[in-house]
Formats: sequence, structure tokens, C-alpha cells
Amino acid sequence: MKEEKIIVTSALLYVNNFPHLGNLVCVVSADVYARYLKSRGKNVISVLGTDEHGTTTEIKAIQEGVTPKEITDKYFKIHKEVYDFFLCKPDCFGRTSSKKNKEITVHLFKKLEENGYISEGELEQFYCPKCDRALADRFVKGTCKVCGYENARGDQCEKCGTLLESDQLENPRCAICEGEVEIRKSNHLFLDLPALSDELKTLLEETKQNWSYNAVTMTQSWLERGLKKRCISRDLKWGIPIPKKGFENKVFYSWFDAPIGYMGITAENRGDWKEWWMDKSTRLVQFMGKDNIPFHTIIFPGILIGSKEGYTLLDTISVNEYLNYEGGKFSKSQHKGIFGDDVVKLGIRSDVWRYYIIINRPEKADTDFTWEDFREKLNNELVANFGNLIQRIMVFLKNKYDSEVPGSVLEEEDKRFVSKVKEHAEKVEELFDRIQLKASLKEIMKIARLGNQYMQENKPWSDDVPQRRKDAAMNVLANLAKDLAILVNPIMPGASKDIFKQLNVPEQDWDALFDMSIKKGHKVGEATPLFSKMSDEQMKEFKARFSQSSKDRKEVKEQEKKGLDFSDLDLRVGHIKDVEEHPNADKLWVLKVDLGREERQLVAGLRKEYTSDELKGKNIVVVRNLKPAKLRVIKSQGMLLAGEGKPLDDGKEQVGLILANAESGSPVYQEGKEESAKAAKKKTVTIDELFDNFKMEVKQGMAYINGKKLFADGKPLKCERVAEGKIR
Ligand code: 2FM
Ligand code: ZN
Repeated sequence: MKEEKIIVTSALLYVNNFPHLGNLVCVVSADVYARYLKSRGKNVISVLGTDEHGTTTEIKAIQEGVTPKEITDKYFKIHKEVYDFFLCKPDCFGRTSSKKNKEITVHLFKKLEENGYISEGELEQFYCPKCDRALADRFVKGTCKVCGYENARGDQCEKCGTLLESDQLENPRCAICEGEVEIRKSNHLFLDLPALSDELKTLLEETKQNWSYNAVTMTQSWLERGLKKRCISRDLKWGIPIPKKGFENKVFYSWFDAPIGYMGITAENRGDWKEWWMDKSTRLVQFMGKDNIPFHTIIFPGILIGSKEGYTLLDTISVNEYLNYEGGKFSKSQHKGIFGDDVVKLGIRSDVWRYYIIINRPEKADTDFTWEDFREKLNNELVANFGNLIQRIMVFLKNKYDSEVPGSVLEEEDKRFVSKVKEHAEKVEELFDRIQLKASLKEIMKIARLGNQYMQENKPWSDDVPQRRKDAAMNVLANLAKDLAILVNPIMPGASKDIFKQLNVPEQDWDALFDMSIKKGHKVGEATPLFSKMSDEQMKEFKARFSQSSKDRKEVKEQEKKGLDFSDLDLRVGHIKDVEEHPNADKLWVLKVDLGREERQLVAGLRKEYTSDELKGKNIVVVRNLKPAKLRVIKSQGMLLAGEGKPLDDGKEQVGLILANAESGSPVYQEGKEESAKAAKKKTVTIDELFDNFKMEVKQGMAYINGKKLFADGKPLKCERVAEGKIR
């Protein structure tokens, strides 16, 4: 018989942010299960990667003032580092934006089209003319008709929780630029799920015994309600372009190419990917959070079935509920909770996090991460039970036996102990097979507890116990340490490795369980504790650190940032309405400047260079988020930009204003980066920060910051009087 092939996947997390502990549940679970199968000698590959397309990535790029490609590159690296830290070692790692995934997605789309599963239709959607983009509901804001909240998101009102239809939102505005939105019609492509529903029902019926309960109920309810055609195109720029006439400006819906990404990522890593994915007998085991269910039980299998190419279909699905943080949801946007990048820096070993995630794995209901609970599990379970057992075994071997394993004939009580351990180990195996990871880990911990008891009963430290008893017990315990290293390896690969090393034996797989291969005379290595306790103070410190309000956290993050970049600056076009002499300084003017939605007072040292009439009516550029200052008692709320240097005719040095041919209030941006103008700005920038972080120059009469030409409203900013020089 051919050896069964197994593919284990974890949901491909969105790449537009830091993954938080809750997101990592399915990633770690998939890794644990794949490691278990490997230890069992199965023919398995595991697949992990990042989901890179879609509106959220595009919007994040706008917020950070970079391109979507730059966003995905940045966060892909971060995700990779986090997965490495968590010891998640997939066989295939990659990204949905890869060339391979593009090829496979386009191929599948063409097959679906050939087979008649794709149709066209018109949809109405919100459109922002100013941003020139179609807006997904959550990028539309407006007044909630239900509760009157003015900043409700198009999909859901955060205040009253109502899921909103577009007609329940009054005064819809663009969440990116705050501008008015319109409703536009656009042509789209649809996947004919109703035509596939019989085959999807069969898939459910045939495999549901391997699906977690939440996956079965949700899929059943989708199928019972009747499937609808699903739109698979989007009016976006970032994504896989649709290879079809009339759809040149559209891309595939990210949930179309994301699950195909499992295949794309396998193909990125292995030439033989088709042998895994085009074999009906391959067992496909998928891990994910509950919000991903229908995409894996309906849409992805629908795509594969509709292609009629005989791809491997879902066999087993393990869905976790949510892991929340201290009674609330983790929030990427509000930075609430611990995120992968935080975890990496805390100095707590990866295995502790893996242990915590699995022992708290939200299998049937949401669970809560709390620092108290984390500390308790670390101190009372990992350190006091598991770590303590291994440590005691190693220390006794060293101190009482000069690091040499003793041997003696096993007696009834030793045999009874070993057979009890075996019973639990069988349960561990059975639970791992059923992907009951939490229960499986609990069984392992029971074995450690039994080990501690057995040691307590045989007292290898006591002179009252006959030597043969002590020797037998220490032999059994040395072998138990090895068996625990095998059992716990899928969950805590780091600690497992350490135990093998301390025992001075090679790393071993499942089939070496209970082989009693550590024999009399074997020399063990050094004893070192596997885990250390967390003190109450430390726990409190972490708790305080991560429960700072989102605002505090953001500011801390900002302070941590090394330098500033252009998107931190808020530069606006301002119209000089009025000019007055400064009452106590003969070099200074006091200007009233209109910035569109507000008026600011600026104090400018230009009295030698400009008359008040020369200034009045000009459209200048103002650093709007400069820290306000008082200049000789008069408040200045910002700074205007002026050039200083040589004029075109190479005459004597001059000072000249940077001027914009744009309306007051218009944002100033760097060439090609119009979007960055809308990014979240730093609250304030000091004069020092401004001059330390930015190279501001005039070249050929144009204004530049950090080598990039400045624009407002599509037109470059010019410096009057100065051709080459610096901006001050
Ligand atoms: O929920 C998420 O993070 C999604 N990006 C999961 C996608 S899984 C797969 F389809 F790519
Ligand atoms: Zn807009």
C-alpha cells in the first residue's frame, strides 16, 4: 500500500499587522500536530505563510505612507520572526502574493470559467471620488441610524453593535479622507456556489466526523440556508489581476486567492507539490480560527471541486474559538494585548508560550489570557511539576550516582508504575490523533505528577530505603525523563531537546517510547533547570505594561521609533490672510494663516526679507504639527517653510518662501506618495526633530525633503527667489 500523505495547514494570517497571541493559536496548534505526526513517522508536510492581498493591506499602506508591496515585505519579515520565535517550523513557508500563487489562482479561475461556474453581474458600492477608490464597508463611516453614533463603521456600529446595512448609515463618508462618498455601479465576477452545493454537502457528510463541532454547525447552516453566488472580484489595485476582458482594473477577492495560497506556498517550496495536492487520497488537515470556517469548508473546496481537476479536498478541520486578552478582545488597531513582537522581547522561553497556548487552547469556548493565569500555569505546572521532576532526576543522578545511571531488577511496584504511565501515554496518543491537543497535554502533565509521586515514594535521598529500590527507581526515572521528552516534544520542542541533551542521549521519536534504552552505566550530562518562575512583581509589571490604554501604548511605540519619516510630518498649504508687526521684535512678523479648516497664528522671522504686502495673499507651506512655541511672548502655532540660498542668476544669497499652487488646507506629499498625506501623523514634532530627521533643500527652484520632490494637489512646490539652497 502507498504510504498515506498528510498536509497540515495553519490559517495564513493577514500580513498587515503584528500577529497577537490569539492569532497564534492556530499557527502553534498546526505546528504541534505536524510535529506529532512526524514523531509518529508519518509522511507529512506542514504549510504556513502570510495572506497578503486585500483592502486592509492597501489601507495600511496608505496609513504608513508606503506601497502595499512595502507593507507586505515589512510585515512578512515580522511574521517570520514571530513564527521562528514560537518554534513553528513549517516545511513550506511562503506568501499569497508569490508568483506561484498567482499562476495557480489564474489557472483555477480559468478552469472554473471553462466549466461554467463563473458569471458576471453588477454591484453597487461605495466609492470615494477623492481617493479614487471603491470602499469596502468598513472603510465607510457615517451616523448609525440605530443609535445616532456619528462615527459608525459601514459594517458595524461600534457603539451599539448593530451590523449595519448600507442604508442604515447616514451621511456616509470615506474613512480614509473623510470626504463624501458616492454609490457607483461596477461589474463583477461571481462563483456559482449553488451549482456546487450538492458536492459540498457530500464533502461535509463524508468527512464531518473529522471536523470540529463549530465547523460542522456553521457549514450545515450555510448549506441549509442555501448557498448564494459569491463575488470573487474587487475594485482594488493590490491583488492578483483578473485575466479577463473588461476586468482589467480589478483583482481577485483576497479570500479567493488566500486559500489557494496553501497550494501556492507548497509550490513555492516543492517541485512535487502536485503529488501532494492532486491526490484524492492525501489527507488535508486544516487549523484556523472560527471566523475562517466557511472559506475553508465551502469556498475553497468549491473552487477545487469546480475546477474538476481532482485536487485534494479538506478532510479534517480543527477550529479554535477566540483567545481574548484580560477580558477583552485583542485589538490590532488599538494595540490592546500582547502581540508576537512583544512576546519575543519578554525573555520568557518560547516553550512556555506554546505550553500556555495549548493548555488554554480555546477548543469549545472563548478563553481569556490573564497574566495571573499565565504566572500560575508557569509556576505551578511547568516549574513545580514538569520542570521539577526533570530537575530532581538529573540532580540525584549527579549527586548520588556521580552522573551514572544505576540499574537493578525492576520489582512489582516499578512495573506497576511503568504500566500506569503507559496507560496515560496511550491516552496522550489517542488524544493527539483526535487533535484534542489540550487534553493530550493534560495527560502528559499527569504522567509528570505520577513521576513526582513515584520519586517521593522511593526516596532516593534517604538512607532508610534499600539501595536496590533506589537504583531501580532511578533507572526507571531516567527512562521516564526520556519518555517525557518524546511525549512533550510536539508541544515543547525546546524543552524536549534540552532533556535529551541533559540525559546525554540522541533525540528520539515516538517509537522509542518505553524502550528502556537508558541502561545501567550510561553517563548523563549536566542538570540545568528548564523553566524559571515568574515573581509576583514581574507579573504585575507585565500586567501594567500591557494594559496601558491604547493611546499610551501608541505613544510609547512612537517614542521607541528611532527616527521620523516623512509620513510623521503634517505639512499643509496655508493662505496668508493677515500680517502684523511683532510688538517686541523688529525682525518678526505675526501672520494669520488660513489652513482650510482652521486658522493659525505664526511668528516668522522675515521682516528683513519680506514686506507685509509681499506676504499677504500668498499660499505658503506650514508644518502644522510643529510643537507650538512662544516667540517673544507671542504664540506661534507652526512654522512656514522658506528657502535660503542662491538665486537662479547665481547672485547673492536670498531668502524666499516655498509656495504652493493649491487650496489652503491641501496636504503636501512627496513625489509619487500622494497617499502618505493621509497617514496618521505624529502628534507634534519639535524644531530639533525636524532638522535632525529631515534633509530639506531647494534644487532648481523646487522644494525637496529627504531627496524627494514635494507636491500639493498634483503640482510641485516652488521656492520663490532661491534656486539652490536649503529650507529653513
Ligand atoms: O483570518 C485571517 O487571518 C485570514 N488571513 C486567514 C486566511 S486562511 C487562508 F485561506 F489563507
Ligand atoms: Zn476618500
